[in-house]
Amino acid sequence: MVSTLLTFAGAAIVCILAKLLLTRRDRFPPGPRRLPLIGSALHVPRTYPWLKFSEWAKTYGSIVYADVFGQPLIVLNSAKIARDLLDQRSAIYSERPTMIMGNLSGYGQPFILQPYGENWRQQRRIVAQDFSQIGIIRYHPIQEREARKFISGIIEDSSTLFRQLKLRMGTIIIQVTYGHYLKDENDPFLTMPLTAMDNFSKSTAPGAWLVDFIPQLQYMPVWMPGASFLSTAAKWRQIVWDTTWQPYLWSKKNLESGNILLPNMCSTFLEEADRNPSEEQQDRLVWAASTVMGAGMDTNVSTVLIFFLAMILNPAVQAKARKELDDIIGRDRLPTIDDKVSLPYIRSIMTEVLRWHPAVPLGVPHSVKRDDIYEGVLLPKGSLMIPNVWYMLHDSEVFANPDVFDPDRYHNLDSEMEKVTELVFGFGRRVCPGKLFAEGTFFAIVATLLSTCEISAPVDASGKTMIPEVTFSSGTIIFPSSFEVNVECRSEKARELLDSAVTE
Ligand code: HEM
Repeated sequence: MVSTLLTFAGAAIVCILAKLLLTRRDRFPPGPRRLPLIGSALHVPRTYPWLKFSEWAKTYGSIVYADVFGQPLIVLNSAKIARDLLDQRSAIYSERPTMIMGNLSGYGQPFILQPYGENWRQQRRIVAQDFSQIGIIRYHPIQEREARKFISGIIEDSSTLFRQLKLRMGTIIIQVTYGHYLKDENDPFLTMPLTAMDNFSKSTAPGAWLVDFIPQLQYMPVWMPGASFLSTAAKWRQIVWDTTWQPYLWSKKNLESGNILLPNMCSTFLEEADRNPSEEQQDRLVWAASTVMGAGMDTNVSTVLIFFLAMILNPAVQAKARKELDDIIGRDRLPTIDDKVSLPYIRSIMTEVLRWHPAVPLGVPHSVKRDDIYEGVLLPKGSLMIPNVWYMLHDSEVFANPDVFDPDRYHNLDSEMEKVTELVFGFGRRVCPGKLFAEGTFFAIVATLLSTCEISAPVDASGKTMIPEVTFSSGTIIFPSSFEVNVECRSEKARELLDSAVTE
């Protein structure tokens, strides 16, 4: 009896000692090998990281730890875990990582990168209210009109697909934000934010700037060798400033003179503040508007381009969609956004586009406010939380034959489609506030195109069909490589409907 007790006591002491001897690091989730100083930097690729992270899912599992120059990075390769942490524990997982070069370049003010706090909350409230389920109904006519103009334009000349799409998506988002109608693709209301978005990608590219790993470098004198990033940041900061304030000041001035298109987000807010907002209110409105511009344009452009690729490669899907449209809507009118609820196959196509190649494959990283324990592993304070949405949507245990574009996999059931839409628009308190509006624009284009046109691969001079390659750029938002498409009107009637819609 005594010897048994002694054995138990001994075992208990060994356990306690072992626990005490385990360092914090031993309690992190598994992950690639870490070296002193640089950590796992050599294992984290700078391009197409979601593919490498998906390989990690097979080697290390659903939750993977890496460390880049001391910055902990946690890759979430499971929808359940992403929801458990980013949704269920959102009180501590709603921060954004600090991006020093992004901040130096002026991107710290728009609320997409703001820390979780009062300024973020107030900016977000402005956007969430304006783009609420009820609020967006007033924007439907704008989305439908631009979708129809876009389709008319590409029927005329489908080689301008990429340019026209940017112009039309820009027209929608700029009109609903500031009440300005773009003159053409050289309108500074469009060119300025496009430059700012490009600089945003560059300044926030993970691993591109030493100052992101050694923050003290931001205090270097600008004349010192190696400090050229400071003058680049200053130049970019000025562009962000102009892109943010100029359209707003135009909008405010033209609201006074009545020379503006209503409704739009800035005017709605200004009217509610009796056209006399406090400095603080104005500041929040200005940066909220600028966030909408940045977050709402390229995401939709990318998604529509991916839809075109899917349609070129899947004529049978187009035929099935046309049948649904003809049966439910007929051929005597164009679809409107209100028709979305009665077109489950069109909704399935949209969902499958978002799943097949999500425009934001790694979402936008969150950050954790304090140490947290999840299923026995330690997730240290300040870790970058990266939801590998691409992998979650290509997990063959959830989506059979994940590389195949197959809208039938949802059996026309919204509950099945939600498995996708609940991931691609992000998580928890940071979930995309433009989701419903984005879906409206996407639907207007998809339904109108499929109801009026046939989409196919063009034929080259030698009579060979030019099937596009499905390849993408790398970045926070991905874009298909340039491809050609053939868009033809289905019938005279469809042509008439489009013509009269765009000349109204
Ligand atoms: C297909 C189109 C779109 C996709 C796939 C998309 C996706 C996303 C994702 C993944 C996030 C990050 C969420 C997170 O942190 O977990 C996000 C944030 C955001 N999106 Fe969208 N988005 C789209 C369109 C739009 C549109 C049209 C708007 C504006 C009307 C918009 C406004 C925003 C804003 C303001 C944020 C920042 C939210 C925050 O940090 O609190 N998005 N979006």
